[in-house]
Amino acid sequence: MPGIVIVGAQWGDEGKGKITDLLAEGGDAVVRFQGGNNAGHTIVRGEQEWKLHLIPSGILYPGKLCIIGNGVVIDPRVLIDELDGLRARGVDVGGLRISANAHLIMPYHMLLDSAGEAKLGSLQIGTTRRGIGPCYADKAARLGIRVQDLLDEKILKKKIVAAMEPKRLSLRPYEKDPALDLHTMTEEFLIFGHRLEQHIADTSKLIWQLLDEHKKVILEGAQGAMLDIDHGTYPFVTSSNPLAGAACVGTGIGPKAIDEIWGISKAYTTRVGAGPFPSELHDGMGETLRQRGGEFGTTTGRPRRTGWLDLVALRYAARLNTMTSLVVTKLDVLSGLDRIQVCTGYRGADGAEFEDFPYHQTVLHHTTSKLTELGGWKEDLGECRTLSDLPSGAREYLDFIAEQIGVSVALVGVGPGREQVVWTEAGRQTLMGGDGAS
Ligand code: GDP
Ligand code: IMO
Ligand code: MG
Repeated sequence: MPGIVIVGAQWGDEGKGKITDLLAEGGDAVVRFQGGNNAGHTIVRGEQEWKLHLIPSGILYPGKLCIIGNGVVIDPRVLIDELDGLRARGVDVGGLRISANAHLIMPYHMLLDSAGEAKLGSLQIGTTRRGIGPCYADKAARLGIRVQDLLDEKILKKKIVAAMEPKRLSLRPYEKDPALDLHTMTEEFLIFGHRLEQHIADTSKLIWQLLDEHKKVILEGAQGAMLDIDHGTYPFVTSSNPLAGAACVGTGIGPKAIDEIWGISKAYTTRVGAGPFPSELHDGMGETLRQRGGEFGTTTGRPRRTGWLDLVALRYAARLNTMTSLVVTKLDVLSGLDRIQVCTGYRGADGAEFEDFPYHQTVLHHTTSKLTELGGWKEDLGECRTLSDLPSGAREYLDFIAEQIGVSVALVGVGPGREQVVWTEAGRQTLMGGDGAS
């Protein structure tokens, strides 16, 4: 049963969209299993750039089955806009299926997200303000509105009333906001339901059937391991589990259906929003990485914080995911540097050195990185397609990462374009049965 999970191994924006799009060519379905439109997945094909927030990164293949699993939180307005946008650019979206059990982001979730951040002041998380946290909170509180509720006016209205009741106090400042009027909201969401009805399905069963027929299913994560609500840099995290384990729960399949877990990491590190980042660079080098890597958020446009590759965090991500292969993206961004630094250990406030990711928040917040220096390379990598095309410095960098993490590199990104990748022998063997990528 060939299920392959693609997960972010850092703080998000590792290039999951590009890698998913690439693997989707040989896959039968692509499934999103958590997160919502806090995600922004970029695909570059020739001169065209696509930014997907909710729709799986397989949609550019005509008729490809693209499934939004039950673990995703859906803002239906955003989903409909995304569908319309794709259609307008000539994309066939007929293969989209939406879990009837996925939860909906309601207008009050977005207001509460922003209000929550404002209340936190200097302690704010720097959320995308898309209502993700409040929506998952309602799901856990059993006050969520699900996709299937869009198809029944009476149930929808009743559930909206029940969900808003305990929020009366916090929603008081928005009392006059027309978006929160019960009648308007119900009418609007019924229209959304009408628009999406043709795509709503029993997706858990659908995925099981595909796997049972030995079809290749790609499970596309959003965010990254370090933003995981249980294992990430809590509370500076998202409200879901972007780990491979969640791919089962978020789609309705069992762990034995998964064969491969590919963790995606940039050749350096970025983070959007607040929270600890031990290898962060506050100097000109950080700015160089931001400019060369185009490190500005796909969803919010915010400048991303930048730093050297953090191997402590990456080792931790490999463990949390039982990563079977590593994909290193944006190696091209490091071209032209005389020396490259890599964070191989952490140093605590008391000067103690350690190599495991600390579980204690106070320790983590006072951690600085212990750097190891490696040689760089001058050459541009944009045209490299095989390992032997890469300069020796770049190959040594990849070998160093693989050895430190204990996971072999399957694929290397050398530019944003779909074709700008280098497959390693290990990657070819795992995924293509030795045939190599098309
Ligand atoms: P995602 O959220 O993990 O899908 O990543 P994003 O799309 O938010 O951010 C990754 C950015 O890096 C996008 O602009 C991609 O087009 C770009 N990108 C992906 N892989 C590479 C690569 O190997 N080299 C370069 N230069 N850019 C890349
Ligand atoms: P992709 O899928 C990078 C970050 C936010 C914030 C924290 C919580 O494109 O990699 P939320 O809105 O989820 O409550 O915000 O998580 N964040 C991301 N950072 N990439 C993402 O998605 C992110 N999704 C959320 O910046 O720090
Ligand atoms: Mg992104």
